[in-house]
Amino acid sequence: MKTIIEPFKIKSVEPIYFNTKEERAEILENASHNPFLIRSADVLIDLLTDSGTSAMSSEQWAGIMKGDESYAGSPSFFHFEKTVKEITGMPIVMPTHQGRAAEKILFNILGGKGKYFVSNTLFDTTRANIEFSGAEGVDLLCEEGKRTTIPSPFKGNMDTVALKQFILEKGASNIPLCLITVTNNSGGGQPVSMQNIREVKKICVENNIPLFIDACRFAENCYFIKMREKEFANTTVENIAKELFSYADGCTMSAKKDAFANIGGFLAMHNEALAQQCRNLLIITEGFPTYGGLAGRDLEAIAIGLKEVMDEHYLQYRIRSIEYLTNKLIAAGVPVIQPAGGHAVYIDAKEFLDHIPVEQYPGQALVCALYLEGGIRSVEIGSLMFGKYDSNGKLIPAQMELVRLAIPRRVYTQSHIDYVAEVIIEVFENRKKINGLLITEEAKMLRHFTAKLAPINN
Ligand code: F0G
Repeated sequence: MKTIIEPFKIKSVEPIYFNTKEERAEILENASHNPFLIRSADVLIDLLTDSGTSAMSSEQWAGIMKGDESYAGSPSFFHFEKTVKEITGMPIVMPTHQGRAAEKILFNILGGKGKYFVSNTLFDTTRANIEFSGAEGVDLLCEEGKRTTIPSPFKGNMDTVALKQFILEKGASNIPLCLITVTNNSGGGQPVSMQNIREVKKICVENNIPLFIDACRFAENCYFIKMREKEFANTTVENIAKELFSYADGCTMSAKKDAFANIGGFLAMHNEALAQQCRNLLIITEGFPTYGGLAGRDLEAIAIGLKEVMDEHYLQYRIRSIEYLTNKLIAAGVPVIQPAGGHAVYIDAKEFLDHIPVEQYPGQALVCALYLEGGIRSVEIGSLMFGKYDSNGKLIPAQMELVRLAIPRRVYTQSHIDYVAEVIIEVFENRKKINGLLITEEAKMLRHFTAKLAPINN
């Protein structure tokens, strides 16, 4: 087979500003060892997130010009609504300014003290919105998903035995919703199988629990289903997506991922009574139901992006580019989550920096080292993001200490990716020189965004 090429030509480019390692050391110091606090102009390759960072197509930019900015009943809304309905089969569609706004509305209504929301793995903002309502978020990820370096085709699956057990323990009436995240971002961008969704749906139906999908990366997930679940080898991604959504009572989506949009999201569902409550909140927090938190031009870009993302040449290139970087790292002995996920490469920082205890945040130490060495910005998904304290103020670490290198869609070429691999491998070879970090300042919620840290000099 020949090289899988980027399925696009480049019409408009943005410069990358180069800096030296000495300059980066100073920048890192000024940002208190938290790359969220670094200016993007000081970053060479920005792999902080694949969210809102996609390159839009010429069709999407044309859609931006066509966007109609009427307050009510804009044709751009109807284009958006029709597209979402077509893919999800859900009759009620509410635009929001991004994914977490849809979550905020949903969990505000369904949440509250004594309630539990079960999931394969909740994303951080999703968990935060659940906890903010007073409810508890519970991750019931399958066993394979917890073993980072053992390959398995659907490591994003929900543990259905644990789900049944949990329902028995807590009572179905205390579980307002089950949410499956596709692909499982916090668990390595790993896909969920259609088989697993069917099984979860069956359990939900038996217990009268609505099933929702966190659909941020639905197309990437559906491509994995096509590649790895025999039954779907000859089904189009669009039809796989339709079947996947057919099992759901509703979904939340950040259009900043698999809709190639720079901003946007939505909440969609079947239940009119729930929708009525959501709409009331939508109006006071986001806007009138035909624009939500978005401009008409954004609605156009999303409608076009949602269709483009299901193009199988694109998905083949997308999934292959993540696998390409993953394989290069594996060949050099770098511990990464295997197999490759859909949108990012995840390094196992606990193993990479096995001389740094979890209390010294090995993930964040690695994030800083990658920036220092090569100007690459990544993000820690470990105890800085998910750690809690016990009553004695001792850290309760996260399940895993990961570093995510998220690849923006259609933005970087193969030589950018080769450079990223070279930097990581160089850092790996010199890993014993890296020191742990100490938190000097932190917020109560979502502390990783703003925390300040300092290196521990051994
Ligand atoms: N759900 C998942 C699985 C996500 O990955 C995200 C965002 C959200 C919900 C929230 O969407 O950002 O539009 O409010 N993930 C980004 C990331 C931020 O970097 O993974 P949002």
